[in-house]
Amino acid sequence: MNSTVWFLTSNQGKLAEAAHHFANIGMVVQALEVPDGAIVEPQASDLETVAEAKLRQALAHLPHEGALVMVEDAGLFVEALDGFPGVYSSYVHETVGNQGMVRLLEHLQSDDPVMAKRLRAASFHAVAALWDGERILFGRGECKGSIASEIQGDAGFGYDPIFIPADLDDDGESLTPDVLGVVSTHGKTFGAVGVELKHRFSHRRRALEDLMRQFPPQGTER
Ligand code: IMP
Repeated sequence: MNSTVWFLTSNQGKLAEAAHHFANIGMVVQALEVPDGAIVEPQASDLETVAEAKLRQALAHLPHEGALVMVEDAGLFVEALDGFPGVYSSYVHETVGNQGMVRLLEHLQSDDPVMAKRLRAASFHAVAALWDGERILFGRGECKGSIASEIQGDAGFGYDPIFIPADLDDDGESLTPDVLGVVSTHGKTFGAVGVELKHRFSHRRRALEDLMRQFPPQGTER
């Protein structure tokens, strides 16, 4: 069994989350090293196109024949901004950052906490693309939530300190941000909770699970 997934990412937070997930199913994740400038991210309007284009470029840098190679692309989609920053999430984070996002939504406030969450609704989406040696498989995941009115916590990475995940129902599914569920961060952002708890809500974990549902299970000869 080919049990190493070569993950094309320089983001240590993503690498740690993927490693945590794959360890549960007996697989190892290693960062795929490529020369500087080898991968060009296309301007595209959806995450699938971006992930597939990067994966196809990564295939020129396989560590060995038959290696499993994965790319994962994510974005933050804010409802009040018609889904912005979406595929531009990296650029927005590098430029205005979390403080800028909070400022952009400053006007969306309410004394009613339920209404405030509705006004500030957002979701993370992730698309994982895996080269299984023969073809590209895609996995998709979403995590609903809302944008906090101030930066909270310094755990995780990216938008974690401003994203409050929506509670989960009995089946572990995201509810809408204004509904109480059985699993909750009680208004804390991903930046204020540990990776274990983030994992239960995570769009990335969902995308990887969706991906692995299509992949031969452990013990299957490939
Ligand atoms: P990419 O998938 O690396 O292109 O991510 C796009 C942007 O979203 C980057 O600024 C990431 O830091 C941010 N991002 C992606 N996934 C997460 C997450 O799980 N939490 C917080 N920010 C994220």
